[in-house]
Amino acid sequence: MSLCFLLKIYCLTCYLLLLFLFVSAHICFFLFFISYLLSLRIFAGFSYYVGSAGCLVGASVFGEGNLHAQLMFIGEGPGQVEDETGRPFVGPAGQLLDKMLAAINLKRDDVYICNIVKCRPPYNAVPKPEYAEACMPYLRMQVRCIAPKIIVCLGKTAVTHILKDTSAMIRIHGKVYDKGRFKIIPTYHPSALLRDESKKRIAWEDFKVIRDLLEDKDA
Ligand code: URA
Repeated sequence: MSLCFLLKIYCLTCYLLLLFLFVSAHICFFLFFISYLLSLRIFAGFSYYVGSAGCLVGASVFGEGNLHAQLMFIGEGPGQVEDETGRPFVGPAGQLLDKMLAAINLKRDDVYICNIVKCRPPYNAVPKPEYAEACMPYLRMQVRCIAPKIIVCLGKTAVTHILKDTSAMIRIHGKVYDKGRFKIIPTYHPSALLRDESKKRIAWEDFKVIRDLLEDKDA
């Protein structure tokens, strides 16, 4: 074996080794990058569009409840506790909603609960219209899948984006909007009731409308 041949073998081995290190370094980097993106929830199916604020950190809170529910509640967007748990309406507003449901003989498991936006808006602010728009396909899909008889819009944000109505809640709460396959009823958001206890009585009247409509087999 000539020295030249041995040198060629040596060079080829070095080349293959370097190639292997180069390729594996790129694979490692690629895998690291993907897991980084996943950890940021950029690929979370129910998040905002990539690049908009919100779901880049924190959980996406899609919705939960009975998939055959006749009654669907749509709130605004997750708060801090919802963001931490990944579940809608589990903070103080959610606890009040549970009590209101119990008052019309319903449990959380009987209804479906979700929000206009699926991620906690930055600084807990009212979600910007572009966030609502970005999440709307998921909400439409949820409504289509659950196909409830009644949709309750909890608060102004839900009313604005679902009924396209910006009227004050005092003027429209408890009204039944007939939207073909669904009846839509706006009422106060539980957070608003926590801020102003005097509205609880009004909301109770709305819940009686919801209960009666739910029990009405012809509706
Ligand atoms: N407020 C909302 O609008 N949605 C939640 O899930 C919790 C609080």
